[in-house]
Amino acid sequence: MTQKRISLTQYLVEQQRVDGLIPGQLRLLLEVVARACKRISHAVNKGALGDVLGTAGSENVQGEVQKKLDIIANEVLIEANEWGGHLAAMASEEMDGIYQVPNRYPQGEYLLMFDPLDGSSNIDVNVSIGTIFSVMRKPEGAAVSEQDFLQPGHRQVAAGYCVYGPQTTLVLTVGDGVAMFTLDREMGSFVLVEEHMTIPADTREFAINMSNMRHWDTPVRRYIDECLAGKEGPRGKDFNMRWIASMVADVHRILTRGGIFMYPWDKREPNKPGKLRLMYEANPMAWLVEQAGGAATNGYERILDLQPTQLHERVSVILGSKNEVDRVTQYHQGKE
Ligand code: AHG
Ligand code: MN
Ligand code: MN
Ligand code: MN
Repeated sequence: MTQKRISLTQYLVEQQRVDGLIPGQLRLLLEVVARACKRISHAVNKGALGDVLGTAGSENVQGEVQKKLDIIANEVLIEANEWGGHLAAMASEEMDGIYQVPNRYPQGEYLLMFDPLDGSSNIDVNVSIGTIFSVMRKPEGAAVSEQDFLQPGHRQVAAGYCVYGPQTTLVLTVGDGVAMFTLDREMGSFVLVEEHMTIPADTREFAINMSNMRHWDTPVRRYIDECLAGKEGPRGKDFNMRWIASMVADVHRILTRGGIFMYPWDKREPNKPGKLRLMYEANPMAWLVEQAGGAATNGYERILDLQPTQLHERVSVILGSKNEVDRVTQYHQGKE
């Protein structure tokens, strides 16, 4: 008999009963985020038939031109989460400061950070994109401030993403492994399809934007050259390459079949540690990857141990199959 598939709601209720990892307020938060992702998926799927493609004619705090879907997704997540009483505040790639829950609503104990639309350069060409989210507890004290968000990634209580691809799939951890749910559009609910995603320790597949090769630091250049040398080279095996330019899609592939993803520091912007953002891209993805048996560093230390100093700070990201991430990290540390 095929295993009875359960919904996200039933999975969260059972997890709450079993090990208390998901207090009621956190369960409510995760269900609201999932519902918001369903709405974003619906907007994404309209494409040219909805008014969702192209640019919005504005710039975000990162200095990026905002796409219409960046703003739509941001608004969907804010409107879905502000009234439920589970959150004190939110922060987003698309907003300058934090968004405090308005006084007309009850204040909760959680902080929600998100990249509402990841992979924006793929929106208009119908390639997989997604939403990334990270949940932390608000530190004790009455008021909420930006400082409350500046906690290292190991303080997360939930992290996940929703990938809007051929399937709409939600991937989530609350600290007890990584679960995957696929949206059943007829029923309108996310259905559990995998309970313990694991990343093989070894891989033959690397993901990096090769056009930046001339800007990389030596350890990264050495690692990729060795991969490109194939079985005749020091690695003794051939490698394959993938680069989707949506972190969500690249990480989803790695959680599904292994691989190493790198967006390292490069000398195009030497004063920035990297392109990706720590609070709502690197931290949630790093926790998911570690929960699936992989590793995630900035070349020198574990991403989840980094102490943030600002909301939108950037970080160099090396994550995925543990043995490959360890190798690249050792190259950075001069241990090999
Ligand atoms: P976002 O669309 O949220 O700004 O993030 C895009 C990020 C990430 O999703 C992806 O891995 C990376 O940018 C791609 O960068 P390049 O276009 O430089 O390859
Ligand atoms: Mn962006
Ligand atoms: Mn992003
Ligand atoms: Mn984004």
